[in-house]
Amino acid sequence: MNLVVVGMQWGDEGKGKVVDFLSETADVIIRYQGGHNAGHTVVIEGQTIILHLIPTGLLHAGKIGVIGHGVVVDPKALLDEIEMLASKGISVTGRLFLSDAAHLVMPYHRTMDHESEQRRGASKIGTTGRGIGPAYADKMARVGIRVADLLDPQHFREKLSANLTETGRLLPTTAGEHTVDLQKIYDEYLALGERIKPYIAGTARILRQAIGRKQHLLFEGAQGTQLDVDMGAYPYVTSSNATAGGACTGTGVGPTQIDKVIGVAKAYATRVGSGPFPSETDNDIGERLRTQGQEFGATTGRSRRCGWFDVMAARYAVDVNGLTAMVVTKLDILDGFSEIPLCTGYQYKGQLLTEMPTSANVLQHCTPVYQVFDGWRGQTTAGATSYGKLPDNARRYLEAIETRVGCPVDLISTGSDRGGMIIRRAPFVS
Ligand code: IMO
Ligand code: MG
Repeated sequence: MNLVVVGMQWGDEGKGKVVDFLSETADVIIRYQGGHNAGHTVVIEGQTIILHLIPTGLLHAGKIGVIGHGVVVDPKALLDEIEMLASKGISVTGRLFLSDAAHLVMPYHRTMDHESEQRRGASKIGTTGRGIGPAYADKMARVGIRVADLLDPQHFREKLSANLTETGRLLPTTAGEHTVDLQKIYDEYLALGERIKPYIAGTARILRQAIGRKQHLLFEGAQGTQLDVDMGAYPYVTSSNATAGGACTGTGVGPTQIDKVIGVAKAYATRVGSGPFPSETDNDIGERLRTQGQEFGATTGRSRRCGWFDVMAARYAVDVNGLTAMVVTKLDILDGFSEIPLCTGYQYKGQLLTEMPTSANVLQHCTPVYQVFDGWRGQTTAGATSYGKLPDNARRYLEAIETRVGCPVDLISTGSDRGGMIIRRAPFVS
């Protein structure tokens, strides 16, 4: 059984916890897109671990982790993460495999990311500043540098030189300055290449062999459906396919090998960075969600914008990912709210929309239509493990989501620690 986990909203849905939970019954856990812009948080016995590149499943002893060719990799960030885990007694040696065909995030990509944001001014995207967009741009422009290129010094030098020449990055600025030092980057990356060498492998073949052995593959999506470069509100997106299709193109596993696609959504909604967010509550209620939900970026520490669960966006996620089930996370954060609005539709120029609009401009001008649910004040869901024991109003809210979104809610997370999980149907059992 091979399963893909994707975010249904704007990222930060709690995919880290869900993947950690599902990893127990998986054999190989695979990242297929994005880079160290992702921040997947897992809390184990009170200890918080945030992973950006390494598949979350590696927190379980004995599991295999793969970083597929669809991921863009900053080798320094990868090594820092390997060391961080080692300092906590978790060794990934011999069980982490990095695709030789993955593209590298180079130092100048980070510079370009910052410069591009500065140029955009008020219409900036609010990127994580990790160089992810420029790295993917080079990949698509066919001037990118891949992990395997680091293994051959002569070849790497030629590639780096070709990249920098073709993109004009070696030219002096109008002030006559040279901002890119080829030799310095060459030396630095060659040394990093030596250090990541033990992890480099032909990962598509490793996955094919695992499938042949009937092992369970778990694909760990980063970001979310609304941040997908094709499916999201372009250009307020990330530069990769965060949706389920990316699991195939980003790893070399064919679509017929995928058995289930599970979507993860928070019981409310958040977004980091700019772009439309119709159900945003930019007031004291939003502030309360932010404080109770600790909605601060795991990668950049930025305050997340907060709002209510958006059925339109979730239904769209079901459609474009072909979801077979969903997980609702952070239900406990709604404990204590007297009213819980659910965004069930959008009004646009006096009309009720029934489908998610394609254009960011249209979405920007949509106003949410809410159905307001009574909270479960006085009762708590924190740490709950039994669906039957949830407050009636919490079940009413979840069942409304299930019906309106049109997808079964199989798992409900009720706390950041490993324990707080309600299992209505176990995803790996068909
Ligand atoms: P996880 O995997 C939330 C957002 C950024 C910005 C946009 C583009 O933790 O859910 P980028 O640096 O990717 O070019 O920025 O995408 N973004 C995320 N938001 N969670 C993430 O990852 C994100 N990764 C990127 O805030 O709006
Ligand atoms: Mg995150």
